[in-house]
Amino acid sequence: MKKVKLGTSELEVGEVSLGCMRMSQLSHKEAAEVIENALDNGVNFFDHADIYGAGKSEEIFSEAIGMNDSIREKMYIQTKCGIRKGFFDFSKEHILSSVDGSLKRLNTDYIDVLLLHRPDALVEPEEVAEAFSELKESGKVRHFGVSNHNPMQVELLKKYIKQDLIINQLQLSVMFTPMIDSGLNVNMEDDPAIVRDSSVLDYSRLNNMTIQAWSPFQHGMFKGVFVGNEKFPELNAKLQELAAKYKVTDSAIAIAWILRHPGNIQPIVGTMNPQRLTEISKASDIELTRQEWYELYLAAGNRLP
Ligand SMILES: NC(=O)c1ccc[n+]([C@@H]2O[C@H](COP(=O)([O-])OP(=O)(O)OC[C@H]3O[C@@H](n4cnc5c(N)ncnc54)[C@H](OP(=O)(O)O)[C@@H]3O)[C@@H](O)[C@H]2O)c1
Repeated sequence: MKKVKLGTSELEVGEVSLGCMRMSQLSHKEAAEVIENALDNGVNFFDHADIYGAGKSEEIFSEAIGMNDSIREKMYIQTKCGIRKGFFDFSKEHILSSVDGSLKRLNTDYIDVLLLHRPDALVEPEEVAEAFSELKESGKVRHFGVSNHNPMQVELLKKYIKQDLIINQLQLSVMFTPMIDSGLNVNMEDDPAIVRDSSVLDYSRLNNMTIQAWSPFQHGMFKGVFVGNEKFPELNAKLQELAAKYKVTDSAIAIAWILRHPGNIQPIVGTMNPQRLTEISKASDIELTRQEWYELYLAAGNRLP
């Protein structure tokens, strides 16, 4: 598994990472298999959030593997805070208590990366800055980042926060590409030209923030998986053609498409099927050609100007 360097940090982690949002549905035995298989494949970065399974995903994760110092050293753990029932909360009090809850459930002394999950309209960046400084000084959190933020929201936080923001986690798949469409359709009159995220892709590259691609197999927001989906015959035909060429699965090609982007994007895959993760990990061994990357983009229903 190739490594990706996260933002301005010293962290170099497996370029394919595992999202644990769906882990709360597993037994301890199943979860242990998922985690051990991930580590065997070089997938050593795990994405959590305080809200996944209402805390249960973090709990099962640590209980399943019997978290201890030697296991902890083999992995990188990221978690998120800021989403509550019916509202978003970036208050200092909530950030601090959320991290304490995650540390307890994960049975660890530190979080490698903490992300603010979704923008809070009532954010007071001074408070976020205070919370982050306390968490850094106490050693509870090593690095910080955001999720689903646009560049100006990042700039507002950066004005106050002392630590680098190393990550922005955003939805991206070959079937969900607003951040790419607008860059390809500059100055055009049709929908793909609409800039929905204030050029977050170019901003992140300019500022050395790693983009993590969440839901890399979904079309729309949680509308379902596009791989093997009869609604998308052209894309699936192209995925299968390239899968045969590179001797990997169609799912691996969908991840190779994200990895081919030169912006060092780290996909966060959500499969809880060990065999599937093993197959997907092979995406790290192949490099699509420039033409193949565009062919997949077009097969997904996009046009070029
Ligand atoms: N920051 C945010 O706002 C945000 C939002 C959503 C998610 N996330 C993060 O992103 C991670 C991934 O999200 P996700 O689970 O929606 O992503 P995903 O990897 O796009 O989807 C995984 C789901 O698709 C299923 N699936 C069915 N066929 C598949 C195939 N051929 N290839 C791959 N998967 C297939 C998997 O089932 P099997 O388990 O049976 O394989 C699993 O239930 C989450 O765990 C979370 O960490 C972040």
